[in-house]
Amino acid sequence: MTPFTVRAPASSANLGPGFDSLGLSVPLFTTLRVTKQDVTEVVPLGAELEGTPADESNYVYRAMLLAARRVGRELPPARVEIETEVPLARGLGSSAAALVAGIVAGNELLGRPLDDEAVLDVAAREEGHPDNVAPALFGGIVVATLDRLGTHYVRLEPPAHLGVTVLIPDFELSTSKARAVLPKEYSRADAVHALSHAALLAAALSQERLDLLRHAMQDYIHQIWRAPLVPGLSDILEEAHRHGALGAALSGAGPTVLCFHDAREDTGRLHAYLRGVMRKNGLTGRVEDFPIDTGGTVVSRVQDAASPSSPGASRAPERR
Ligand code: HSE
Repeated sequence: MTPFTVRAPASSANLGPGFDSLGLSVPLFTTLRVTKQDVTEVVPLGAELEGTPADESNYVYRAMLLAARRVGRELPPARVEIETEVPLARGLGSSAAALVAGIVAGNELLGRPLDDEAVLDVAAREEGHPDNVAPALFGGIVVATLDRLGTHYVRLEPPAHLGVTVLIPDFELSTSKARAVLPKEYSRADAVHALSHAALLAAALSQERLDLLRHAMQDYIHQIWRAPLVPGLSDILEEAHRHGALGAALSGAGPTVLCFHDAREDTGRLHAYLRGVMRKNGLTGRVEDFPIDTGGTVVSRVQDAASPSSPGASRAPERR
C-alpha cells in the first residue's frame, strides 16, 4: 500500500447559541503520515505534541482502532507520524482533529469500508457531540445533531467574505472543566431563547445575512456560565461589534474567542481592541485572522513510496 497523508482541520464549535450542534472549520491542521509496515509505530512530532504518548495509547492511534472496531476487523500495523498546528486545550477542536484524522486514517488502512456518514457517526459518538468533528470532517460550516437514531448534518458553504478573527490566549482550559460549570437544567424561556437564536443563526449563515449575526449569536446556555473562566470574554461579547466584529462567541469550550469579520474590511481596529482586552486582563496570547476552511479532512497519496516525507514527493489529493 502506498503511504498516505491525512490532514484534518481545527474547528470552532457552538458559535454562540449552537451549543453542541454548530461549528465551522479553521485552517490550522493536524497531519498524519501513515506507512503500512510489519509493526506499529506511533511517532508524535513537534513542540505542540511534546509529552503525548509515542505508543498505541496515543489518542490518534486509538481513533484509528475505532474505525477497525466499527467494522469488526483488525487494524493492519503501520508507522503513524503525527504533527499538529492546532493549539491544544484552547477551544479549537484539537481533539476532534486528532479523532477525525485517526478514524479516516484507520478507514484508509482498512480499504475504506466506512463512508463519510459512518466516519462522522463514529467520531460524534466518541466525542459525545458533533459540533467539532463534523466541520473537521467536511469543512465549511456544519449544523449537526447526534441522538440514538444517529448523526445527521447539513454542511453550509460559508458566506462569501465571511472571515474569522480568533483571540487564542496562552492558557489552557479543559473541556471537562468548562462543561462542569454549566447548569444541569434550564428554564423553558432559556430553551426557547437558545433554539430560536440557533435556528436564526443557521438560517442567517445559509442566506448570507451577515447583518443578523450579532443578534443571532446571543447565547444564555453556556457563555455566561463560562465567562468567569475566560477573563475578558463578557467585554468582548458585548463590545466587539463596536470595533468591527460582525458577531462574537466563545470558541467551543474556550478559552479562544471567535469574532466574525467582513474579509473585505481591514481588521486592524478589531485586533487592537482584542489585544487591549488581553492587556487589561493580564493575559498573553495571539490574535489572528483566518478564512473559513472549506476542504475538511483530506487524504493524499504519496507517489514516491521510497521517501514518504521527502520534500518534493508528489501528493495527489483524493476524496476522503
Ligand atoms: N460544544 C462543546 C462545548 C464543544 O461547548 O462544551 C467543546 O468541545
